[in-house]
Amino acid sequence: MRTLRIDYLKHKFGYNQKNLLLKLVLTIFFFGLAFKFVFFNSMSPPEISPVLEHPFPKKTDTVPEQPQKQNPLVFSQQVTENPTTDLEPVPQLLPVSELEPQNEDQVMSPSNTGKCDYFSGDWVPNPVGPVYTNESCDLIEGPQNCLKNGRPDRGFLYWKWAPRDCDLPPFDAYKFLNSMRDKSWALIGDSISRNHVQSLLCMLSTVEKPVLVYHDELYKSKSWHFPSFNFNISVIWSPFLVEAAIFEDFNGVSSSEVELYLDKLDSKWKDQFLNFDYIIMSCGKWFLKPAIYHENDTTLGCHACPKRNLTELGFTFAYRKTIKFVLNFIASSNHKGLIFYRTFTPDHFENGEWSSGGTCKRTKPVKEGEIENKYLNKLLRDIELEEFRKAAAEASRNGVNLKLVDFVSLSLLRPDGHPGPYRAFQPFANKDQNAKVQNDCLHWCLPGPIDSWNDILMEMVVNG
Ligand SMILES: *[C@@H]1O[C@H](CO)[C@@H](O)[C@H](O)[C@H]1NC(C)=O
Ligand SMILES: *[C@@H]1O[C@H](CO)[C@@H](O)[C@H](O)[C@H]1NC(C)=O
Ligand SMILES: *[C@@H]1O[C@H](CO)[C@@H](O)[C@H](O)[C@H]1NC(C)=O
Ligand SMILES: *[C@@H]1O[C@H](CO)[C@@H](O)[C@H](O)[C@H]1NC(C)=O
Repeated sequence: MRTLRIDYLKHKFGYNQKNLLLKLVLTIFFFGLAFKFVFFNSMSPPEISPVLEHPFPKKTDTVPEQPQKQNPLVFSQQVTENPTTDLEPVPQLLPVSELEPQNEDQVMSPSNTGKCDYFSGDWVPNPVGPVYTNESCDLIEGPQNCLKNGRPDRGFLYWKWAPRDCDLPPFDAYKFLNSMRDKSWALIGDSISRNHVQSLLCMLSTVEKPVLVYHDELYKSKSWHFPSFNFNISVIWSPFLVEAAIFEDFNGVSSSEVELYLDKLDSKWKDQFLNFDYIIMSCGKWFLKPAIYHENDTTLGCHACPKRNLTELGFTFAYRKTIKFVLNFIASSNHKGLIFYRTFTPDHFENGEWSSGGTCKRTKPVKEGEIENKYLNKLLRDIELEEFRKAAAEASRNGVNLKLVDFVSLSLLRPDGHPGPYRAFQPFANKDQNAKVQNDCLHWCLPGPIDSWNDILMEMVVNG
């Protein structure tokens, strides 16, 4: 049934003009409704609460079913981008005696990584389990701390990624840190980058606890320092990578469309760009939000802004333009380190989308072909791959070390790795197990499948 529907959509929403037009019309129509019901405006009925636990209003069910399912344009960041309100505990440094002696010949060679395709492979049983736990690492943020939140099953912790054509040794935190002496990393992007940085920090903190040395007001951008290695990791909050004015309150409830400036890179990362030796850039689902697009002090049009007298350009317009712009900037820069572009991460909402009761109840990985990448995910990834290919050619002419990390297929096979209802603490306390609670099928539990991203990055960076 599911496959049929996807095939139908693939057929129906091909890339030709007529179908794009149809899609556009449906998008606008859908958004008219969605905007009215989901996003706050003066006419919203008072019962629509911004609180996450309240299911979204049933009225959206009147939207034509097929396009809605494949077009989760109302993907709201209420689930994904809640500011962290907990203050970060400043971790303690392990006594130096626990660190292994320095090994001088572990010189990194980031230039030589092309031999193995780390991104095609299978998940295989791993009885050893993760290298850290929610007890050993205190850097896991609440929404990712699935076990603490009451997730009952443990099977999802006992798998590892095995590329088909080569070995992927387990992450070696000491070797990684040692090869990163006097270096700095930045992960730049949205809440998936934040999810990723927590995973990396937890894996590294088995050797040395990092010290938080910077955070912005809402703890969205942060930096950590590993004193024994003079190694720094930053996460920089820049969900659009270009300059954006976002009108959302503390709960992620939007009062107006995002204003996107497609000819200006976000200074949050651009100004520091040359200071980092390693950078992982990415973006993604924020582009699905209602937005008004600007370039050269001109308003070009918008996406999903039925109340404005503007041309609907579609989110793919801004997505492609942004990625092209960002990658061109990188490719023609003087950056002397290594820059990864990470493709966008697929979600696993089943039987609905984020906003329409979708869940992710699986407890095991799936095999290739058992789960289909959603149409929308494909659309975004294809843009990324195309623009990357073009920019990579320019980068290599210019001597810039730009690489792709494409975790999509690996991630797609792990529908079991998300918090689901356990994004919140004990979601079923005082409720029955079938109570409707908001699910998160986009971010990853920690420990969890996202840890394998670091196994691969380590191979690409340290072992070359
Ligand atoms: C870790 O998870 C367990 C459940 O497996 C929970 O009882 C415990 O409180 C959690 N500890 C922390 C520090 O998150
Ligand atoms: C890392 O950060 C610390 C503290 O902010 C700073 O003193 C140090 O120079 C940085 N090291 C590198 C390699 O960037
Ligand atoms: C904005 O300016 C750039 C550079 O001058 C130009 O290439 C581009 O076409 C302009 N865009 C618009 C929409 O005018
Ligand atoms: C919408 O824009 C068009 C073209 O710019 C203009 O002709 C029309 O009067 C505008 N409509 C409204 C309601 O402002």
